[in-house]
Formats: sequence, structure tokens, C-alpha cells
Amino acid sequence: MRITARVDSFSVQINLPDEAATLALGALLAEHIAVGDCLALRGDLGAGKTTLARGMIAALTNESDVPSPTYTLVQSYETPKGELWHGDMYRLERPEDCAELGLEDAFLDCICLIEWPDKLGAFLPKSAINITLSFDGGGRMARIGGAPSWIADLSVI
Ligand SMILES: Nc1ncnc2c1ncn2[C@@H]1O[C@H](COP(=O)(O)OP(=O)(O)OP(=O)(O)O)[C@@H](O)[C@H]1O
Ligand SMILES: [Mg+2]
Repeated sequence: MRITARVDSFSVQINLPDEAATLALGALLAEHIAVGDCLALRGDLGAGKTTLARGMIAALTNESDVPSPTYTLVQSYETPKGELWHGDMYRLERPEDCAELGLEDAFLDCICLIEWPDKLGAFLPKSAINITLSFDGGGRMARIGGAPSWIADLSVI
């Protein structure tokens, strides 16, 4: 695997030199994620949020066709770990509109991967695991913060 990680007391930073590395990180996170977990995926347009979600969803469902939920806002998948929701809140007009989408219930009993999570305001679970993707040369850098203890295991990659 071509990804390397550095752990400090607040966050893990992971170099992602190419798209395959972003997909691989998604697959790695999929091993640890459980229902009730929410990943808040932050980063500029094109930073790789959907790619990371795609890596997770592909690992859990063998689904290779994972559309970006830019227009549907949410897309759900059945996985052996329970239901997974992939959301893109970019076009959410008001935080409270997330109720119509059913997201409040999904946060309780599904795995949730949310792009543009800050559009949710106070509706974003406080327990969300924060993953910020940024441009780094031709590749990307992922910073994982607010992390549960299993994140430290990533340092052995
Ligand atoms: N580690 C990487 N190195 C280089 N390119 C990458 C990497 N990860 C993803 N990409 C590429 O970046 C492009 C944009 O990715 P993606 O659609 O996942 O971004 P996004 O953050 O979801 O954007 P948006 O904010 O528009 O939803 C894709 O072409 C993808 O292949
Ligand atoms: Mg996207």
C-alpha cells in the first residue's frame, strides 16, 4: 500500500499521492466504521471527498458504480454492517432541511459519510469523525481529527 501516516496527539495526517491511495484509505476506514458513526468529509471542490466515500462504499458493498449525491443530496446503501448513507450537503439551503432527508434518524442507526458537513450547522453530530482533504502537489493530504482510538492503528500502515 502506498499511503503513509503520521500520528500526533490531535490528528492523523495521511499522504494520498494518487486516486488509488484515496480509495485505499476509504477501504481501510471501512474496516473500522460501525453504525452510529458519522464521517464529516471536508475539503475544497475536487479535494477527493467523493473518492474517499467511494472507496469505503466499494469495500463494503462491492458496488463499483457509486454516483456523487450532488443532486439527490443523499444516497443509501445496504452493507453487511448495516445501512450506509452517503450525503453531499453542498446544495442544502438551510440546516433544518436535513430533517426532510431523514438524516437525523440515519445519524442514529446508520453509517453516515457526509460531504460539506458544515451546511448542517448544529444538526451535524458532535461525535462526528472529522476528515479534511487538501491539495498537496498533484496528490492529496487527509487529516483525521476527533478520532476514536482505532485511528491510532493507522500508524502501522
Ligand atoms: N489522492 C489523490 N490524488 C490525485 N487526485 C485525486 C486523489 N484523490 C482523488 N483524486 C481526484 O480528484 C478528483 C475530484 O475528486 P472528488 O470528486 O472525490 O472530489 P470532491 O471533494 O468530492 O469534490 P466536490 O466538492 O465537487 O464534491 C477526481 O478526479 C479524483 O480522481
Ligand atoms: Mg463530491
